Amino acid sequence: MKFFIDTANVDEIKQAAAMGILSGVTTNPSLVAKEGRDFVQVLKEIVEIVDGPISAEVVSLDAEGMVKEALPLADIHKNIVIKIPMTAEGMKAVYQLAQRGIRTNVTLIFSANQALVAARAGASFVSPFIGRLDDISQDGAELIADIAHIFDLHAIDTEIIAASIRHPIHVTQAAKAGAHIATIPFKVIDQIIKHPLTDRGIERFLADWSTLQKQ
Ligand code: E4P
Repeated sequence: MKFFIDTANVDEIKQAAAMGILSGVTTNPSLVAKEGRDFVQVLKEIVEIVDGPISAEVVSLDAEGMVKEALPLADIHKNIVIKIPMTAEGMKAVYQLAQRGIRTNVTLIFSANQALVAARAGASFVSPFIGRLDDISQDGAELIADIAHIFDLHAIDTEIIAASIRHPIHVTQAAKAGAHIATIPFKVIDQIIKHPLTDRGIERFLADWSTLQKQ
């Protein structure tokens, strides 16, 4: 499973990229609004940091509007992937963009059937939301496993991005369930790197080492 970062914060992207673990970036309108910066400028900065798929979401609700928004975003850089919501209008936009060779990431996926439809419309990526399913007492990890099984069974090459990751257990669950990618907030990337026994181990090694220096 590859790691994407789920943020529109350029400093967070730089920090994660410096560790060599980032294969891509996802943004959404809420994350972009949080930064209070010009969206196109943010995307131009991100493509310079990460050499991988960078999802940029459209906000129109009709296919024509989505495609109209998508074209200039796709022109920014070859790595820009257009994020489209899982609706009938969204599927029309995915189909039209695929015909133009523009990759899409279908977002707000909450069922295996939605993922299958998005893949058949021509999506390069589907984003099932684990955390938001867990919020309503449904098993997000099971959804990832179902989609992975179906895509495998029918030789579908659309990649599964486990999204709405809220804590480290979601990352492990996504990997075990067969997600190709997990898109993870910076805070959770930080959490999965750390372990209290690692910190304690470093402290003990340094303490032992300092006794050697005194001899
Ligand atoms: C996915 O691409 C979304 O940006 C994101 O994962 C949503 O996460 P949330 O449910 O924590 O807002």
